[in-house]
Amino acid sequence: MHKPRVFVTRVIPSVGLDRIRAACHAEIWPEPLPPSHEILREKAEDCEGLLTMLTDRVDWRLLDACPRLRVVSNYAVGYNNIDVHSATERGIAVGNTPEVLTDATADMAFCLMIAAARRLVEANRDLHSGRWRTWEPMGHVGRDLVGRTLGIVGMGRIGSALARRCRGGWGMRVLYADVKRRERAELELGAEWVDFDTMLRESDFVSVHTTLNNGTRGMFDMRAFRKMKRTAVFVNTARGPIHVHEDLTRALRDGVIFAAGLDVTDPEPLPAGDPLLALPNVVVAPHIASATVTSRDAMAEIAAENLIAGLAGKPLRAWVNPEVEGPRRR
Ligand code: DGY
Repeated sequence: MHKPRVFVTRVIPSVGLDRIRAACHAEIWPEPLPPSHEILREKAEDCEGLLTMLTDRVDWRLLDACPRLRVVSNYAVGYNNIDVHSATERGIAVGNTPEVLTDATADMAFCLMIAAARRLVEANRDLHSGRWRTWEPMGHVGRDLVGRTLGIVGMGRIGSALARRCRGGWGMRVLYADVKRRERAELELGAEWVDFDTMLRESDFVSVHTTLNNGTRGMFDMRAFRKMKRTAVFVNTARGPIHVHEDLTRALRDGVIFAAGLDVTDPEPLPAGDPLLALPNVVVAPHIASATVTSRDAMAEIAAENLIAGLAGKPLRAWVNPEVEGPRRR
């Protein structure tokens, strides 16, 4: 039986890898760091399928170097690392892993909101360094969450899941800025659809849940931070380049906003010694929002299914470019 050749760019949970190994002639990159772009290209050249991470750039040059490629299955819900337009033009199916990481990511946003508002990391550092010597009536005073206003940028699955937690748990008012109206969130959560500037002005917490694209790249710059309350907390669990790194650093340093909680940065990782990392009012996690056993296993399962379906010329379970159906490569 012909087994299609595929390259998997990192080790993923065995529920996915075992299926791929059974169905394909698979090479799996074993290193803890991703393959370089050159190595990826070399490995992909003869492949019919690729299983990629958000750290792998799949551009038109790479696609052109792989004449047999039929499917790119991304092990992530976001797919800004892939030139989907070029893949579609070449009849290559692209898959992603939506839904299964919604709760894990919303939980991480929730966690960053509390940690940043209550200065948890700063307090923890002070404790470990011995700077904290006694209970302080004036020390580490943070911000409340109950009854405050949450601004969501991008009221999709993850944004709604966070809003549900904040509405139900803390009775927050929910505002959202989105390219389209989300009636379900309005009915269920009393969410109000407002323009971006109103959301910035009125929110105590602003959390980003939009995709990275030309319209959202750099949307949180100094101009945006200046419109936010000085007491506001900014949270980004989506993609680093949605905020302008230098502007966020300045906004936090100069007290333009109160604090930030980040699961994503630009670049990733930030170089050691980056000024942002020295600030007391930022909590930074290493892009771990989807890192729960359940989510990662489910992502592996969907990514494997997408890959195998794409190789067989079948519809993908989570298909980013279903319009490729007609002109699909066989
Ligand atoms: C995604 O899936 O896009 C996250 O950023 C990583 O799981």
